[in-house]
Amino acid sequence: MPSDDKPGAGALVRPAAEDELDLLVEQTWSVAAEGRFIGAEVPFDRPRRRARLAELLAGGDSTVLVADTSPAGGPGVVGYLSVSVAPYGVADIAMLLQAGWRGRGIGRALLDAAIAWASSAGAHKMSLEVWPDNAAAIALYERAGFVVEGRKARHYRRRNGELWDSVLMGRPLS
Ligand SMILES: CC(C)(COP(=O)(O)OP(=O)(O)OC[C@H]1O[C@@H](n2cnc3c(N)ncnc32)[C@H](O)[C@@H]1OP(=O)(O)O)[C@@H](O)C(=O)NCCC(=O)NCCS
Repeated sequence: MPSDDKPGAGALVRPAAEDELDLLVEQTWSVAAEGRFIGAEVPFDRPRRRARLAELLAGGDSTVLVADTSPAGGPGVVGYLSVSVAPYGVADIAMLLQAGWRGRGIGRALLDAAIAWASSAGAHKMSLEVWPDNAAAIALYERAGFVVEGRKARHYRRRNGELWDSVLMGRPLS
């Protein structure tokens, strides 16, 4: 449940600034360290991840959007979403919010902005992968019009040797 001392509904979604990329890498690290939400596992190569974010930010067919809570009295950027449109017209996304800032509408605001961005970039569809037990993420995506299109079975080998499934979700853009 959201607490009143952590406003979220008023978070501003905007493109990341180049000098925020180190912060985004650290936020990725902390979510990866939770061990259950995203593909990345710690430790990862920070400079490489920063370079990838810089590439996405600079690319004409991609961007990085941040959720900035400053306008709502919060501490600043609490998460981000990356979107990249493939040459065949599908916009792939990945997103994360810091623990403590989830469940208050910020993810939906980021996702809506990404849908609008991908539409204006000419994509015909959005696509993502999610771990099957990530109920919050799947709920967010379904509420935003994504449907399950398939599943990769025992596809991703984790560092502990486990083989995880992923769920493929897609959403057409008008
Ligand atoms: C997944 C994530 C981005 C969702 O963002 P969020 O800000 O927590 O989600 P929102 O508050 O915007 O909720 C969006 C919708 O999902 C629903 N939802 C959110 N958390 C939920 C939960 N734990 N269980 C069920 N539904 C949930 C909300 O009810 C809301 O629906 P509504 O608009 O009809 O009320 C965020 O929880 C997160 O960063 N998690 C860790 C990283 C991660 O999992 N990234 C995605 C990897 S694929």
